[in-house]
Amino acid sequence: MGRVKSLCFLAVVLAVLGQSFCSDEDPQCSRDVPVKSRIDCHPQPGASQEKCEARGCIWCSTNMPNAPWCFFPEDSPYGYSLNGNAEKTAKGWRLTLNKLQALSLFGNDISPVVIDVEFQTRDRLRFKIYDPNRQRFEVPLKVESPSVAADDTSYDIEVADDTSHFRIKRKSTGTVLWDASLSDLIFSNQYLQITTTVPSTSVYGFGEHEHLSFKHSMNFATYGMFSRDQSPTPFANLYGVHPFYMCVETDSNAHGVLLLNSNAQDVSLSPNPSLTFRTIGGVLDFYVFLGPTPENVIQQYTEAIGRPHMPAYWSLGFQLSRWGYGSIDVLKKTVDRMHYYDIPYDVQHSDIDYMERRLDFTYDKVNYAGLPEYMQQLKKEGMHYVLILDPFISKDEEPGTYRPYDLGEEMGVWVNNSDGVTPAVGKAWPDGHSVFPDYTNPRTVDWWTQMCLELKDVLDYDGIWIDMNEPSNFDRGQYPGCAVNDVNNPPYIPSISDRALAQKTLCPDSKTYLGEHYNTHSLFGWSQTAPTFHATQKATGKRAFVLSRSTFVGSGKHGGHWLGDNFSQWKDMHLSIIGILEFNLFGIPYIGADICGFNYNTTYELCLRWMQLGSFYPFSRNHNAEKNSEQDPAAFGAEFAKISRETLRIRYSLLPYLYTLFFESHVHGNTVARSLMHEFTSDQKTHEIDTAFLWGPAFMIAPVLQEGARSVDVYFPEAPWFDYYTGNKVPASWLKNYATVDAPLSKIPLFLRGGYILPKQAPATTTTKSRLNPFGLIIALDDQGEASGSLFWDDGDSIDSIEKEIYFLAKYTFSKGHLKTEIVKNGYRGADSLKYNTITILGLRLRPHAVALNGRTVRGDAFSYQTNGKLTLWLSAALTQELNIAIY
Ligand code: NOJ
Repeated sequence: MGRVKSLCFLAVVLAVLGQSFCSDEDPQCSRDVPVKSRIDCHPQPGASQEKCEARGCIWCSTNMPNAPWCFFPEDSPYGYSLNGNAEKTAKGWRLTLNKLQALSLFGNDISPVVIDVEFQTRDRLRFKIYDPNRQRFEVPLKVESPSVAADDTSYDIEVADDTSHFRIKRKSTGTVLWDASLSDLIFSNQYLQITTTVPSTSVYGFGEHEHLSFKHSMNFATYGMFSRDQSPTPFANLYGVHPFYMCVETDSNAHGVLLLNSNAQDVSLSPNPSLTFRTIGGVLDFYVFLGPTPENVIQQYTEAIGRPHMPAYWSLGFQLSRWGYGSIDVLKKTVDRMHYYDIPYDVQHSDIDYMERRLDFTYDKVNYAGLPEYMQQLKKEGMHYVLILDPFISKDEEPGTYRPYDLGEEMGVWVNNSDGVTPAVGKAWPDGHSVFPDYTNPRTVDWWTQMCLELKDVLDYDGIWIDMNEPSNFDRGQYPGCAVNDVNNPPYIPSISDRALAQKTLCPDSKTYLGEHYNTHSLFGWSQTAPTFHATQKATGKRAFVLSRSTFVGSGKHGGHWLGDNFSQWKDMHLSIIGILEFNLFGIPYIGADICGFNYNTTYELCLRWMQLGSFYPFSRNHNAEKNSEQDPAAFGAEFAKISRETLRIRYSLLPYLYTLFFESHVHGNTVARSLMHEFTSDQKTHEIDTAFLWGPAFMIAPVLQEGARSVDVYFPEAPWFDYYTGNKVPASWLKNYATVDAPLSKIPLFLRGGYILPKQAPATTTTKSRLNPFGLIIALDDQGEASGSLFWDDGDSIDSIEKEIYFLAKYTFSKGHLKTEIVKNGYRGADSLKYNTITILGLRLRPHAVALNGRTVRGDAFSYQTNGKLTLWLSAALTQELNIAIY
């Protein structure tokens, strides 16, 4: 250190004089630590050379954007070293670490600390760094903790010979997936930091954020994670928290890592490439998933955190919402024009303006007089209805007049002040004093369930949309403000907006049943989701629909999410694809963004292109903010409505495929919307692509994302691809290249991947109707003339139809000119009356002479062949009978 200091002596003098100082162009300054490997030694704002050197760190400027100027020397004076040998435990190994020196970055360092390594499954490893002498907060997510013999794992653990590094290696390739220097580890009461190198720069994940690219930039980007009521803004911490990333190694194997921690935290991505995690509480509880394919990683991740719930079939239909219809008349007018134009449309939402003065569990009997009856009417017509609920409850109503508050007060269900007794009172709708239900408390769950059941007696909803549950408060902390103490003012505040933990929410020292808000803040929405799921199920007797704004690790088990208050801007439309892909990595595949944008007024062209893209969001809803101009697809006239109708009809016709993907997601943890990288991992060019995406493995959506564009440059990974509209095969010269495809205003480019069979069904204006229509199969052949696929079908909204085996599952295989169906499960009698009426085969090389169905030659007019290799066969065959089709 002395040497570095003396080399920088001149710089100190210059700095004092207001000049620039010791920089990375100065070889002496940066010799020890290359810029790309710097670990920030002054992560909070306000770094200076003086403060930096007082910490024993190196100060050295650099031109590299965002690179820290104050960084740890090679041998950090803050870290730990291994004490003795690793001890064997029932599930793995235990390492005890002692702090090297008495120096402390933020005070209250803990020593010793322990690393418990658990070999949980062949492909899942957990290592937890904690204080063996004092229980600290741990996220109450129930992750099963099985164990497996070290010999049976796909990973090895290694502590470097000089005991300075903790490493995880992939056995099959020797790739080091995790390499953390123990001398970089910091474990103090309110500041925990660990840095690991990663084996490549193909890193994805970390949320919730509005990332500018799906594949991260590793140029010292820092992402804060702390749930917040915040419109999507690059680098701002948003509504949910997902400290999970996936990394694709240079040989295309993939692994994932979760830091199961709910405290305010941030992560810095450096070009080394490495990651530095900083959190201000809890423990460092890491789970590593070895894949080796991206899909395996997510399957393993959701096996640990909870598989995504199975959505109701109707919830895959198109949904309409807006904040501020203002009256039932405007709502009815909107619904009517949707019907007038025959636009497929299953679900209507009501935002807070249905409530009386924005009070939960009420409805506005003046402006929304007749809402209960109207909801019933829509439901009779086969539609479904979703109501919004905010978490905060007004305490300003006359005693005895507002039951949600009176009952909650009586049951003691609120988040409390630091005294643990008096309820925290914040500011929220309807512009007054509100209390906040503490969903981590079982009493609150009873209260909430009761309120949801009572609401159902008045407004016959099918699903609940839980908003503002970060939790949002319209002030900094509750009344009368946050006390000055270490919990409210920790020495380090992660890189979150405003650098203030109480901003737009409650004081960190508020008390919830599970502990201080300091630890549980980001769990608020998560803790509300499961109770709402169960309450909805109880109220409706059907499969639950819960849409939550705030999410955490494991939220997908009980709810879906939308990307929040986006803007009616072209760039937001593009960034929505990234959000949708990321939430699929986070185990929340039921995900969408507000189609046409929430904030600002949209435009005709933007909204039209967004309706086209949004028709392929797994959760497809057009939603708009108060006072903005109308943007439902029927609001812009006949031509717009027609284009929206046609695109949504494509969605509806492919819903059997989408529903089957959700079944796979629920049962095996598969993603629903996927990046091209996910399926074509070894093609490096796909790693950066976030302008197009896939439904499952087989259906590519390549939307127009630019104003005025009438074509799209689409990248085609090496595979047979067919134009969805014509069935034409994409020319070989387009493969592994970008090709410009036509996209007039009326059309969104869509492609089918050879090798797959997609079930479809004739569309209708609701899924209630379309579910009765005939099925079809699209068989897109690969270069060997083969394809396969499956269909999952059940009644669409029963609870546990999978667990109770009341479903139908068929597997399809096409090979050597033969299609065969195998009925794997025939447990749903509602499938008996359904029929296939078309089979389309794409990619045939020769014109067939004859076609036989179940051994009998079909008439010549029952099929037609186009010279592009497309064969259409019209038939009438029961869905539940095995099909056998031969093409000669
Ligand atoms: C914020 C939500 O994000 C938005 O979707 C909703 O319209 C408003 N709250 C009003 O409830």
